[in-house]
Amino acid sequence: MEESSKRFYITTPIYYVNAEPHLGHAYSTVVADVQARFRRLMGCETFFLTGTDEHGDKIVQAAEKRGMTPKEYVDSVSAMFRAAWEPLGISYDHFVRTTDQSHVSTVQAILQKTYDKGDIVFREYKGLYCFGCERFYIERELVDGKCPDHGTPPVELKEENYFFLMSRYQEWLVDHIEANPQFIQPKRYRNEVLSFLREPLEDLCISRPKARLTWGITLPFDENFVTYVWYDALINYLSALGYPDGERFHRFWPVAHHVIAKDILKPHGIYWPTMLRSLGLEPYRELRVHGYWQMRDMKMSKSIGNVVRPHDLVERFGADATRYCLMREMAFGLDAGFSEESFVTRINADLANDLGNLFSRTLTMVSKYRGGRVPSPGTPAGVVEELRNATLEMVGRWREEMADFAVHRAMESVWQVLNMANKVIDTTQPWALARDEARADELDGVLYTLLEHLRITAIAVSPVMPATAEKMLNALGLDPGGELSIEAAEAWSRLEPGAEVARIPSLFPRIEVDRREKGDGRKVAQGKGVKRQDGKGTAVAKEQGKDKDGGEISIEDFMKVELRIAEIVKAEKHPNADRLLVLTVRCPEERSVVAGLAKDFQPEELVGRQVVFVANLKPAKLRGVKSEGMVLVAKDGEGLKLTTVDGKVTPGAKVS
Ligand code: ME8
Repeated sequence: MEESSKRFYITTPIYYVNAEPHLGHAYSTVVADVQARFRRLMGCETFFLTGTDEHGDKIVQAAEKRGMTPKEYVDSVSAMFRAAWEPLGISYDHFVRTTDQSHVSTVQAILQKTYDKGDIVFREYKGLYCFGCERFYIERELVDGKCPDHGTPPVELKEENYFFLMSRYQEWLVDHIEANPQFIQPKRYRNEVLSFLREPLEDLCISRPKARLTWGITLPFDENFVTYVWYDALINYLSALGYPDGERFHRFWPVAHHVIAKDILKPHGIYWPTMLRSLGLEPYRELRVHGYWQMRDMKMSKSIGNVVRPHDLVERFGADATRYCLMREMAFGLDAGFSEESFVTRINADLANDLGNLFSRTLTMVSKYRGGRVPSPGTPAGVVEELRNATLEMVGRWREEMADFAVHRAMESVWQVLNMANKVIDTTQPWALARDEARADELDGVLYTLLEHLRITAIAVSPVMPATAEKMLNALGLDPGGELSIEAAEAWSRLEPGAEVARIPSLFPRIEVDRREKGDGRKVAQGKGVKRQDGKGTAVAKEQGKDKDGGEISIEDFMKVELRIAEIVKAEKHPNADRLLVLTVRCPEERSVVAGLAKDFQPEELVGRQVVFVANLKPAKLRGVKSEGMVLVAKDGEGLKLTTVDGKVTPGAKVS
């Protein structure tokens, strides 16, 4: 392996502190965190940088609004960003602030070096300035004469300023982008930058007269000016590494990867590489550009005010589920619409059902049939062997997709095999194997393969859901510290037969939606909305089953009911109620159900029957006996009839 490929440097944009963090900021930061965790897992020495951008007009205005000095204000909002990242599980190595003294002196040293080289000159400039963007626009960048971002006409401004001679590096930049297809990704953004570079580049105004703005870094060669906020901000990627002499700079600059959204493509795709070139530095290795989170087709943004706070999502869904939804609901590079419903559906389907159920079903079976110990590997054959092969093949795909920032696809690959594992349980029916001594080896093979599959799945989801992965590995009796490596993900049979595994409660509680609210995503921002079913919700969760709108329910509501075929394996009279029977049903795992069938059925006639069953009803105690579901019956003048199926089906089969 090339020496530098053992290292990885990842950055987020440094966010303006003119407003609180929102979902868009959280997305970029989670993307970078997922990469950092993935690269650590790959054995790379990794440095992960995030931080805040604290100079410029916008900050002064925001501070004034709150009656604070700029310094007081930036201290408070920068702290809010740091406070937002901890509950989201962000594992950054350094948090840079552009008001840090070390950053200020690096910016000044770079300005001086560039000035001494003759790449910064003093000129009169007349141009169209947007105060919102804090930059001059050229005519062709405007839309109907207005700023494309703010929709306001720019103001004509004439002043003397310092300019960075960016145009000197235009030809070099075009050649560099063309020779290095990985430099700006995805391709559409690379093309966008190249198309911009087809026209002659204007030089970049990098100063602001102190008469207009004082909240900035003073130019080292003219104290009447401060540095333009973008020139200052981009340098954070170097100042945080201790440029020019820091050891970190030498180790990590050659492997720099920047994550941004498309709003700041131009400063990163054009200003930054030319600034670096002027300094005689290699440009960053990769710029990874993503799209926008939108609300009702508009970019989620603090200036529009349609934001969702990451804190609210974490409160409702937990950090791992929020991270998973962010990664899964947006294809990297494209825009995505935010809706709370899609997060809830995703969590219930992928996390509570597919992953959570597989995990608890498997551990329950190991506990029940093998005394809670890892069985011997047995001799897996047929679908079980296929599951093993598919799991190992998945790791290869997952690895490539993760390295390519296609986390949504990597998770899709993991879920394809997860679903296969769930099907393996349905087809092999371990509960039937458990009743037949002669098939003990077969049962070992199924259980061992499922456990190994879950071990590898835990590693594969760990960059996205670190706490869940840790919980899973701990339950499998492994040390997460030692197990989170690509070597462990690519190996089979790491679980030692005889080792103890735990029985743990479900990994993800199902999320109940408060039906009285309309689902447009805004409710998260407003601090209302979904309630968790694990007791953390409020009274609204008790409204389940009542329909406030009278009669009709939506398809989404209907889809929340999980109907399955259950086989009744045991039936007896309820000890405390004449009207009730206590049934044991297989669905596909065994559950106890209390049903009001005693008047219409003798217990014996129910055994062996298959019925339609509500499988996701909240467990309850009925007259002292636990009930985990509901058997559906039809009722007419002649009493109750079972809702049976036409022919035999596998217990647990979905009714749709
Ligand atoms: O531009 N969807 O800071 P900023 C996705 N300080 N990502 C979004 C988003 C959305 N709706 N809204 C914001 C600045 N982001 C400068 C950066 S870097 C040297 C200086 C994310 O607070 C996304 O990463 O406006 C975007 O590029 C960034 O926040 C802009 O943050």
